Amino acid sequence: DWTMGNVIDEQVATIREQVGDRRAICGLSGGVDSAVAAALVQKAIGSQLTCVYVDHGLMRKGETEQVEKDFVAATGVQLKVVDASERFLGALAGVSDPEEKRKIIGREFIRVFEQAQLEIMQEEGPEVAFLVQGTLYPDVVESGGGTGTANIKSHHNVGGLPDDIEFELVEPLRKLFKDEVRMVGQELGLPDEIVQRQPFPGPGLGIRIVGEVTEERLDLLREADAIAREELTAAGLDREIWQCPVVLLADVRSVGVQGDGRTYGHPIVLRPVSSEDAMTADWSRLPYEVLSRISTRITNEVKDVNRVVLDVTSKPPGTIEWE
Ligand code: XMP
Repeated sequence: DWTMGNVIDEQVATIREQVGDRRAICGLSGGVDSAVAAALVQKAIGSQLTCVYVDHGLMRKGETEQVEKDFVAATGVQLKVVDASERFLGALAGVSDPEEKRKIIGREFIRVFEQAQLEIMQEEGPEVAFLVQGTLYPDVVESGGGTGTANIKSHHNVGGLPDDIEFELVEPLRKLFKDEVRMVGQELGLPDEIVQRQPFPGPGLGIRIVGEVTEERLDLLREADAIAREELTAAGLDREIWQCPVVLLADVRSVGVQGDGRTYGHPIVLRPVSSEDAMTADWSRLPYEVLSRISTRITNEVKDVNRVVLDVTSKPPGTIEWE
């Protein structure tokens, strides 16, 4: 029968058979799928797996630590963290256009990840032959069902390695839906903050700052976002809400009055939505007391923010993210 325990046992056996005594690499994003895929592979082949986490500096407060500390503590996985935040910030300097931001973040991410892969291969030798991916059943159906290999083309010529490395894919979540992935993660002992995490875009806070992305703006948004998440969790609303982007309108200023004087600060937008699949969404009717607490705390605690506004647009016409 179809229990998560059986799914785990079956996948562990399959992975062991596939990988044998060779080695695998897995990229962690901070999201549920890559975390559960890595935990499963770790259970199957232990120290033959190396995980890579690229810190692009665009994560929310505490998320990188969750991967570096909590995930490692829960799984014992061998993790290579690459702190590339300066590189990403540099590449994003002066850029305001959303699609250009996405392109830059995606491009830099691949470069940093491939560099890390090459370093691991140099350290560990040619038996690194597998790439773990958190592909779910809906992704398999969407892409026509084929299994495959990942052809990693590298533009960095690191001594002695071929230009074109072909990895065989390990995809232990290919038969599972999202809710089953969460159950497997729970069964494997992963922390709730990882297993129950709401969707968060790959480009991270980079596409939640309307305007140029700077260190200072990221810090400010991280504070506001942490407050919103804390209050939503305290109010028991996490399961009800699909996700709640918190957006900084960095190029907008409005007049406020705080303490003894006039301020001229930035607005923060709250974008709580309910949804089934992110294709369509409705704005969440959150309790006024919760909205009020979030607003009071953000304007009191976050420097340069003097206004909190609520997005009451459904999707369509508005997308969930602002960029
Ligand atoms: P939109 O804004 O298009 O978002 O309504 C739909 C869902 O996708 C997420 N999203 C992204 N995820 N890279 C991602 O990995 C992206 O560039 C990206 N843009 C949007 C968004 O958070 C929502 O869950």
